[in-house]
Amino acid sequence: MNSYKIALLDGDGIGPEIMTEAVKILNLVAERNKVNFELTHASFGANAYFEAGHPFPASTKSICDEADAILKGPIGLSHEESQKIPVDMQPERGALLPLRRRYNTYANFRPVYLPKDLAHFSPLKPEIIGDGIDIMIIRELVGGLYFGHKETGINEDGRRYVKETLEYDEDQIKRIMQVAFKTAQKRKKVLHNIHKSNVLKSSVLWNEICVEVGQNFPEVEVINILVDAAATYLCLNPRMFDVMVMENMFGDILSDQAGGILGSLGLMPSACIGPDKAYYEPSHGSAPDIAGKNIANPYSMIGSVAMMLEMSFNMDHEAKNLWQAMQSVFAGGYSTSDLSKPDSGVTMVSTSEFGDKVVEKLAGMEIPNQVSE
Ligand code: IPM
Ligand code: MN
Repeated sequence: MNSYKIALLDGDGIGPEIMTEAVKILNLVAERNKVNFELTHASFGANAYFEAGHPFPASTKSICDEADAILKGPIGLSHEESQKIPVDMQPERGALLPLRRRYNTYANFRPVYLPKDLAHFSPLKPEIIGDGIDIMIIRELVGGLYFGHKETGINEDGRRYVKETLEYDEDQIKRIMQVAFKTAQKRKKVLHNIHKSNVLKSSVLWNEICVEVGQNFPEVEVINILVDAAATYLCLNPRMFDVMVMENMFGDILSDQAGGILGSLGLMPSACIGPDKAYYEPSHGSAPDIAGKNIANPYSMIGSVAMMLEMSFNMDHEAKNLWQAMQSVFAGGYSTSDLSKPDSGVTMVSTSEFGDKVVEKLAGMEIPNQVSE
């Protein structure tokens, strides 16, 4: 029997609630597929800071080091609450970026997926959504401005100043381009390369490497598009995109915008892949305003489980089942109140009821191993 260790970092705000639903799914998947998932919870984020004095405590680091994969909930507090934590201990800077750096998770996959059945979630007009949206945003996750040298001080004129550097070397760009081309090759063979080479030298090098790597993928068509124009087209014509590749900060912004065109960041799971370790997380924040109310939709967290099944454990078929199970719950007319308005004609369910419905659907689907027997 295959056995995998999974570290569960519940996180802050709605994190623990949606993690509970993910655990229900993992238990069912284990049972159905006769695999063993050894689940270990570990504290991470603002709660970890208040409990253990560090947002990424040493004990959590060793649980993650040991794990075959990591499932992470959202972290962070309201702006006011965050002020109670020293700047470098705030969970984004003190936990999340160090997690990415520790495991060098350079390739961030953010699927932007809205089947036609779910088009009503989107603020875009039905004629723009057409048959649905299906984009894969590939964001470089451990370079650029986020990880560059930072400096603050007083300059020669006595003014406070800040300096942050945007640095990439060719190897960092090459490896993310390879991921992007391979992904495009498996999908529609079109890659939108997002850049700002009319201003940034970093984008000039980025584009050069894109051309070089592209020589090994002659069947993939590359379309270069400036990041600001891409933002416009994501609203006007999202269906023109299939795979998009971009540097860290462009990816942070455009992936949130893509969540907006789906109607909610609650529909955005993600995978963060490094050479030896991967972690999976919703792309959204910890939504402290709705925490503890049992109304947050667990889709992004359960979608992150689906990505883990596929990308860390090669359980592609079960991952597809899980996506389908979640979508059929929506298509059956159920939703949570964070995603849908009371008068939208859907039956409103809680976080845990939504999770139970996904469990019920998945339990009724074909078990992959038995299919091939
Ligand atoms: C994301 C988040 C993070 C980022 C924050 C929490 C540091 O917004 O994963 O997109 O900016 O990368
Ligand atoms: Mn973000």
